[in-house]
This record gives sequence, C-alpha cells and structure tokens, in this order.
Amino acid sequence: MSQPQPEFRPLLESDFALIYPIEQAAHQEPWSQANLLSCFGPRYLNGLLLVAGRPAGFYISDLVAGDSSLMNICVHPDFQGKGLGRALLREYLASSKAKKAEAWFLEVRAGNKGAIALYESEGFAEYCRRADYYGTGPDREDAVLMSRLFDFG
Ligand SMILES: CC(C)(COP(=O)(O)OP(=O)(O)OC[C@H]1O[C@@H](n2cnc3c(N)ncnc32)[C@H](O)[C@@H]1OP(=O)(O)O)[C@@H](O)C(=O)NCCC(=O)NCCS
Repeated sequence: MSQPQPEFRPLLESDFALIYPIEQAAHQEPWSQANLLSCFGPRYLNGLLLVAGRPAGFYISDLVAGDSSLMNICVHPDFQGKGLGRALLREYLASSKAKKAEAWFLEVRAGNKGAIALYESEGFAEYCRRADYYGTGPDREDAVLMSRLFDFG
C-alpha cells in the first residue's frame, strides 16, 4: 500500500494542543508551553504537517526584511524516517520564499547529525558555532549556525 501523502496548512495559535505533544515527543529539550505560544504574530510564519488527517509535525519561523530564521522544526517520532521532515523543510522554504524571503538561517545542536545532514542536503551550510551553547555540565553541546544564502527555483 502506498504511503499517505503529506498535507500542509498554516499553523495557528489555536493549534497549540495539536503541536505540544509533538514538541514533547520529538525534542531532547522541548520548548515550554509559554515559549511555543510566544511564536505567533505578524512576523512569524508557521506550518503544520498532517498525514492522513493526523498532525505529524510542524515548523516555526520568522521573517523580517527578507531574512527568515527557522526556529523549530520537528516530526513526531511515529512519522520520522519517511521523508516527511524533508517535505516539511521544503514547504517552509517555499512558503517563506513566496513571502519574499531571500536568506534562511537556523541553529542546531552539533550532535544532531540527522538534522544537519538534512539541512546540508537542502542547501544550508555552517557559518559559525557557539561553544557549549546547549545543555548543562558534561552534556554541553555546541550550537551550529547554518545559513542558506542563495535563491532557488
Ligand atoms: C530532524 C527531523 C525533522 C527529520 O525528520 P524526518 O522525517 O525523520 O526526516 P526524513 O525522513 O525526511 O529524512 C531527511 C534526511 O534527514 C537525514 N536523517 C534523518 N534521520 C536521520 C538519522 N537517524 N541519521 C542520519 N540522517 C538522518 C537524512 O539526510 C535524510 O535524508 P535521506 O533519507 O535522503 O538520507 C526529525 O528527525 C525530528 O523531528 N527530530 C527531532 C527534532 C529535531 O531535532 N529538530 C531539528 C532541530 S534543529
């Protein structure tokens, strides 16, 4: 049987109850409720991924004067490894480009090799690191700052 096709729609503040469980299941250090809820408003561009009608992932980004920062992207673990994260990232790039984004930025844990491989394969490159930015004590990890500075078709 073929895989259900992903669907996308804008993510609204009223969708909070749909995305909070995904945030908690997907991330090593999930955002708080307050942090998630602070990311809605005019400068934000947020999207929801649905598979067979079920919320499966989302992204949160902002867009200011042509620069877009991807602040959060995640796919529920039940749906990972099926090409949906790439589809969601491409949806983010296309949606932000349609709203006049010309440069894209993000930040990722140095140990998150899967996400870094995904970003590199979609045109992002490292431009800077913040040492020991994530975690505490011996579990500290660098933040890798990545950008995509060219336009695409
Ligand atoms: C990062 C994330 C969004 C990727 O979503 P996904 O649906 O699992 O990814 P896909 O199946 O579309 O895979 C896309 C690419 O990611 C990379 N990737 C994904 N999982 C990987 C893994 N376990 N190991 C290595 N590379 C991996 C590969 O490059 C893969 O491309 P390929 O299949 O052509 O090799 C998802 O794993 C996730 O939500 N992780 C937790 C939250 C997180 O880390 N978000 C990013 C924070 S910056």
